[in-house]
Amino acid sequence: MRLTEEVLENDWVVACPAADVPEEPIQVVILNERVVIFRNESGVHAFKDLCIHRGAALSQGKVKDGCLVCPYHGWEYDESGNCVHIPQLPKDRPIPKKAKAIKYACKEAYGFIWVNLNDNQPNLFEYPEYSNANYRNIIWGGHTVEAKPPRIIENFLDVGHLAVLHGGWLGDEEHTEIKPYKMNTQEDGSIFSDEIPIFQPDPDGSGTAKDVYYTYGIYRPLAVRFTKRDPDTDQKFTILLLVRPIDEERSMVYGIMSFNYDNGQTDEEAIQFQDVIFGQDQPIVENQKPEDLPLDLQVELSLISDRVSIAYRRYLTDMGFTLGTA
Ligand code: FES
Ligand SMILES: [Fe+2]
Repeated sequence: MRLTEEVLENDWVVACPAADVPEEPIQVVILNERVVIFRNESGVHAFKDLCIHRGAALSQGKVKDGCLVCPYHGWEYDESGNCVHIPQLPKDRPIPKKAKAIKYACKEAYGFIWVNLNDNQPNLFEYPEYSNANYRNIIWGGHTVEAKPPRIIENFLDVGHLAVLHGGWLGDEEHTEIKPYKMNTQEDGSIFSDEIPIFQPDPDGSGTAKDVYYTYGIYRPLAVRFTKRDPDTDQKFTILLLVRPIDEERSMVYGIMSFNYDNGQTDEEAIQFQDVIFGQDQPIVENQKPEDLPLDLQVELSLISDRVSIAYRRYLTDMGFTLGTA
């Protein structure tokens, strides 16, 4: 049974990296719903991963002449979901009107495939770095995490843990204090923090410790970002974090790393570094209690430095977002 989450059903949810679907269909589970994604000449398409004939998973089939062909009896569905060929039917018999796949809105953007289950959301949020020629964009993930999406997102938005959990990597245990900062709601409804100084042991690979500036941004309930800016060079490094709810217990985490400078790393090295950092976060989020993020701000003890996460909790409350929240 599909998990009910109206905000997500009415929004674009990240499905998988676009590179995962060269053509042949794959199955992606979104909110416990099995979805098949395939590609033909006109682009990517998503259906409920279920053949109406006998319930086979269409993702086990193949793409032929632009149609998705069921592996079991060969029924062929065109990209709009209509069954256009049934091999068992005599040639002069019309195809039953009910022979259709359930279609979801599907599109490719920012190196990912996105699905809108209710097919009612025209706009995806703007991630300007992706189309900016000054940036190198690297797809990161997916990683399966045994935690609910809001805990994972909040961990990414958590500025106070950098010097502790990632001490020696993204912060310094002698510099744990967080200066006051504000959160600012933008015209499009996204929320961005002021720049927050973070003392890092080696922010640019030169071996010199110094302050860099972090700006956190909330685009959507499961799409958030930070930018780290070097005040001396104006070099910027952004990560866009995306989470797909798989089922009640598990989430899939993806990201885009965007650099407007040459950081001296290959794509693989940048991915490896991010894997190490995420490997420090993952056991924390997989063991947080309660698993559901408490939206009542009195339930956990927040500090003034937790303003990003407080803004995130308020944002989820205002949106009426229910998945993985309490
Ligand atoms: S189950 Fe798909 S064609 Fe029979
Ligand atoms: Fe972290």
